[in-house]
Amino acid sequence: MKYILFLTILISSTTPYNILVFCPLFGHSHSTFFGRLADILTEAGHNVTMFTPTIVDEFRNFSYTKLTKDVVYLDASPKLKAIGDLIAGNGRYWSQEFSLLEIPQSSRFFQSVANEQHNVLSENLPLLDKLKKKQFDLLLFETIFTCAIPLMDYLEIKAFAVAQSIAFESSSMRAIGEPVMPSHIPDLLTPSSDRMSLYERLLNTVTQTLQTFYKFSPEYYTSYSNPEERVYPLQRLPDASFVFTNSNPYVDFPRATIAKNIQIGGISVSMEAGKLEKEWDQILNLRNKNFLISFGSVTLSKDMTFESKVSLARAMKQFPDVTFIWKYEDSDTDKFAEGIQNIHFSKWVPQRELLADARLSAFMTHGGLGSVNEVSYMGKPSIMCPIMGDQMRNAKMLVRHNGSIEISKYDLGNSELVEEVIRKILYDESYKIAAQRLSDHLRNQPVSPKDLFLKHTEFAARFEKLPSLDPYSRQMGVLEYFMIDLALIVTVIVVVLCLFLYFLLKLVCRISGKRMKVE
Ligand SMILES: *[C@@H]1O[C@H](CO)[C@@H](O)[C@H](O)[C@H]1NC(C)=O
Ligand SMILES: *[C@@H]1O[C@H](CO)[C@@H](O)[C@H](O)[C@H]1NC(C)=O
Repeated sequence: MKYILFLTILISSTTPYNILVFCPLFGHSHSTFFGRLADILTEAGHNVTMFTPTIVDEFRNFSYTKLTKDVVYLDASPKLKAIGDLIAGNGRYWSQEFSLLEIPQSSRFFQSVANEQHNVLSENLPLLDKLKKKQFDLLLFETIFTCAIPLMDYLEIKAFAVAQSIAFESSSMRAIGEPVMPSHIPDLLTPSSDRMSLYERLLNTVTQTLQTFYKFSPEYYTSYSNPEERVYPLQRLPDASFVFTNSNPYVDFPRATIAKNIQIGGISVSMEAGKLEKEWDQILNLRNKNFLISFGSVTLSKDMTFESKVSLARAMKQFPDVTFIWKYEDSDTDKFAEGIQNIHFSKWVPQRELLADARLSAFMTHGGLGSVNEVSYMGKPSIMCPIMGDQMRNAKMLVRHNGSIEISKYDLGNSELVEEVIRKILYDESYKIAAQRLSDHLRNQPVSPKDLFLKHTEFAARFEKLPSLDPYSRQMGVLEYFMIDLALIVTVIVVVLCLFLYFLLKLVCRISGKRMKVE
């Protein structure tokens, strides 16, 4: 009896769904995000298949899911592999800016990635046939891989949701009908906050416009089942039941969103504190304060200019009471840091565990979204030194909360400035208090990102497409949307009325003038 009761509760509380998570091995942060999403669904009792074709070879060695066991790999074609090799970390952004003129080029690049991934899939139909047998209820993918849409058609999956591992990207948000005003919503690649000068607004508008013209997705794919048929992915994107974005309303710039946009920023920050290895424990005990410095796994510390390395090391030397833990990927450290006792170099650092440790005082980071989310949750004051891509935006986003200081990558060579910033972040209590407040907000959000994701995914798997959430505004033209047509008509009417009154008045004056003369 008890057993049956238990069973009914189990069945009524969650109907298990078959969910396909499509995430080619392309970027470490992308895979981390999707792996976490897959695990959350698995943990809730759903049957999750993670389909993760290889693009960048080195990520094949990582296991991005812990609970999800059904992971399907697919090798890259030689051409896709060659494209993948281009993605692997390069150091040129240490001393160079991403230029708007590169947008057409990067658009072509992303299109070639998606196109070639599409070709690889079409050459492996037996694998797809196997997947099709699982009869998925829902597909989850990221908009850089719109080749998931012909895949969805072939697998006869009725509904999909999009998940973005980045915080914000204007063209896909605009495609689903979200208002994206360049006056106060900084684009992914814009180095501004929500308070922009006239020039910054111009730059932001140009960036968004360029991204609208130079799309990251190919215009169409050929269907797998019928090579004569074309599939237009961007026309299908608005059919997404939900769009999950890695943006958190308590961290990101406030803006108007639509109900289809579910903000689950920070969902990949794991809250279960792993235990620090003994070696790290001892390092943290060496001095009063500890300072972690890492530029992530794409732009490497070893590729920074020599001048910057010398300057950073010199600044650190001024704080004998602080241990600096520097993620540094080479062993040539004696060239710029010889004899400096308080720097601990390491090719790899347990970043999350260190940030969670009470003995760690502050963090210097490139501002990758993963690190920004982590440091926000862990409540440590930070120095943001953005290098490229969305990091400029991420840095401004975090600095707005008063727990961080931003420093330009070009200022790293200025040892005195670096020293001043480190001193402020370590000894000015206001940064610590602000960082802690942000962390408290995130840990006590009214609805956790995990619940938001799970409930909405189950809803999408159950009810499939949700046309009720599709705003009509996305089909409007510019004139209609901004009511320029109405404004023009009103202007014309007002002008005509004014002219009419003017001439009427003139006529009245003339007549009354004549009458006065007559009298
Ligand atoms: C999920 O997987 C289990 C074990 O493979 C299977 O018994 C069950 O029928 C699957 N659920 C669905 C909804 O297909
Ligand atoms: C940051 O500090 C400024 C100035 O003190 C204050 O106006 C602002 O509200 C603070 N921002 C946050 C997010 O607390």
